[in-house]
Amino acid sequence: MAQLEFDGCKTLELAREYGTPLYVVSEAMIRQRLQTLNRDFMKKYPGSLALFASKALLTLDICKIVASEGLGLDVVTGGELYTAIKAGFPMERVYFHGNNKSEEELIMALDHRVGRIVVDNQYELELLNELAIQRGMRAPIMFRITPGVDSHTHKHITTGQIDSKFGMPLHTESKQVFMGAAMTMEGIDCWGFHFHVGSQLHTNESHRKATEILLNLVKEVKQDYGFETRELNLGGGYGVRYNENDDPKPLHYFTDALMADVEKLCGNLGLQMPKIVIEPGRWVVAEAGITLYTLGAKKVIPGVRTYISVDGGMPDNPRPSLYDARYEAVVANRPDDPANELVTIAGKCCETGDILIKDISLQAPKPGDILAVYTTGAYNHSMASNYNRLPRPAMVLVNKGTHRLSVRRETYEDLLAREVLG
Ligand code: LLP
Repeated sequence: MAQLEFDGCKTLELAREYGTPLYVVSEAMIRQRLQTLNRDFMKKYPGSLALFASKALLTLDICKIVASEGLGLDVVTGGELYTAIKAGFPMERVYFHGNNKSEEELIMALDHRVGRIVVDNQYELELLNELAIQRGMRAPIMFRITPGVDSHTHKHITTGQIDSKFGMPLHTESKQVFMGAAMTMEGIDCWGFHFHVGSQLHTNESHRKATEILLNLVKEVKQDYGFETRELNLGGGYGVRYNENDDPKPLHYFTDALMADVEKLCGNLGLQMPKIVIEPGRWVVAEAGITLYTLGAKKVIPGVRTYISVDGGMPDNPRPSLYDARYEAVVANRPDDPANELVTIAGKCCETGDILIKDISLQAPKPGDILAVYTTGAYNHSMASNYNRLPRPAMVLVNKGTHRLSVRRETYEDLLAREVLG
């Protein structure tokens, strides 16, 4: 291969036409994942629903793609919800999460009739009840619970443990003030429960443990409050391949095990089978994205290290500095050359920690080369910042050899657009 191709598109042409840094996202690969969710989960288990966790990557185009494949959407802020509204996403398939939804956001969710509001805490529950009563409605809710299981992943992306800002623990008291109370509220229509144990997981252990805890809770609330759970949301978190240490499992490894557990537990506990919802984000989009950079300054510190810098860095991909994430890359204009030169890829920010990839063997990279970093489809564009006033990259959607701009590059004028000079 004379140059790296991605979903049938020549990466050097993309870099030339759209500039760098550039997020290149494969529509074909995203659709393939969405179709797998549809076939191996939604069709296999009638009545179930897969949502795409939009925090991983959200644009109007992504909303349209997800909607057209028949999935739902998980949003956690008014901004994410606004994007879904503007894209014409079917609101009944939108689930609204978040541990601190504002009154304004809750009103927005009610007024647009989102499918479910996943209530995180007692404060939110009471506020939502009032807002729904004022509107003469009953808000369709699920309870976010913390099942108390620890998942083995980076500590910043575990979410299921008791000491967490997310959800309510399962103490008797919190069950009373949260679930017991909700069931008597005029503005609240309870559907069921939700957990999310963590992210980038390669085993189904914590999901399975949490599911067992959850089904026991379903049984308890049935006994205590006569509440028949209609729906359970088992979160996302399925891992992907970033580097050779990752061993991602196929979707069915998670979903089949969880469905078998739910069916068995329902049988054993004498419960009716609820609707099951899942909400992967990373698994849908991570591997469908690469980022193209132009290499610049190369600095050899004899006996120490060779640095070569890219024209982006932590503002377009904060994951290495936030989570020690390890990425793989290739020199896109010489992908088949031997990767035998050890370099460290630095970003261009005024910050020592702005290292994109430490110690990677590449194809003798030099200034002017195009570097392609793999697996940047999730939590890159959506977490990008303007640190050091770097304009955020453009995003191009590629699809079996075709390409088109999906998000234009930010301009210097954009950077000043919100400023009010005194
Ligand atoms: N559902 C809920 C309630 C969540 O909190 C999350 C992720 C997901 C679903 C989707 O998880 P996924 O399938 O993408 O693993 N910025 C971090 C990831 C934070 C994930 C937070 N919640 C990263 O770049 O690794």
